[in-house]
Amino acid sequence: MRTVRLSIMGFGAVGQGVARAILQKKDYLSTMDIEPIVVGISDRGGACVEAGGVDLEAAIERKQKTGSVAASDLTALDVIKDIDHDIMVDATPTNIEDGEPGYTYMLEAFRHGRHVVTSNKGPLALKYSMLCDEADKNGVKFRFEATVGGAMPILNLAQDALAGNSVMSIEGILNGTCNYILSRMTEEGLSYKHVLGEAQELGIAETDPSYDVEGIDTACKLVILANSIFGMDVTYDDVDITGITKITPESLSLAGAEGMVIKLIGEVRDGNDGIIRVAPKLVPKNHPLAVGGTLNVALLRTDMAGPICVKGKGAGSIETASAILSDIIAICKNRC
Ligand code: HSE
Repeated sequence: MRTVRLSIMGFGAVGQGVARAILQKKDYLSTMDIEPIVVGISDRGGACVEAGGVDLEAAIERKQKTGSVAASDLTALDVIKDIDHDIMVDATPTNIEDGEPGYTYMLEAFRHGRHVVTSNKGPLALKYSMLCDEADKNGVKFRFEATVGGAMPILNLAQDALAGNSVMSIEGILNGTCNYILSRMTEEGLSYKHVLGEAQELGIAETDPSYDVEGIDTACKLVILANSIFGMDVTYDDVDITGITKITPESLSLAGAEGMVIKLIGEVRDGNDGIIRVAPKLVPKNHPLAVGGTLNVALLRTDMAGPICVKGKGAGSIETASAILSDIIAICKNRC
């Protein structure tokens, strides 16, 4: 059995989802010869560390009872630098101002020879090439399937399953909160504020929900797609962004009367007619992109395989953990 030592930075919905996934999938992982051991977990309150493996059930219980996983004086950076482990899982929230604290955690992890798996979009939307260079320089893997589309596979789909194809464009719904808000406003005639509150209760909205409704979250995801799938070199500042805050119930019902729905669509296309843009768009009700609820969807246009459409849960604790776990397994199997 190959022991894989992990740290988890950030112990909110995603970090706890990762802990739950590791607990649930212990037997499944052992059939692949993988024995995951979490040697450190940190959150805003501090860290807990156990070289032989943190008791994950107790850590989740402590977090829920006290609001923090902390059981020592150590900080996240102490764990990353000083506690021996193989993979640092960064589940800290997105910050589009400077990418912190995730950016520094990732750099330190690379410099200490740790592979990084992340769900945090901010550092990649701001400093993608710098992070990839640093991972390469230190001979470690950097994987981030969870940053785009949650459980919906899109990076691995384009890079592995569709290997050999050129992807010409990607368009889709990449934010579950906005999709939920627009769907509920359309179907139930509910107010924007009311439905945003519901999305927050579902635990799918960003820590700062303006990231969702202003289109910032979708823009970050487009940057990650553009850089990793199209080989572009763009940052968040290159995206043309319009959010959903000005969409009125009247515009939704006018669209409905014409057989259309309004969706927040992200689009990326390389080349002379290249674009990287997020904006509300009219979509015919029977179009593959017209999915409802919290779903994400992406339509990839490829040269050999033609159009490929994928949809799935773009947010949520165990759903995002599913993408993180697949990246951990990929690193363990060394097939990335
Ligand atoms: N707030 C995001 C969403 C979470 O609603 O899709 C996943 O990135």
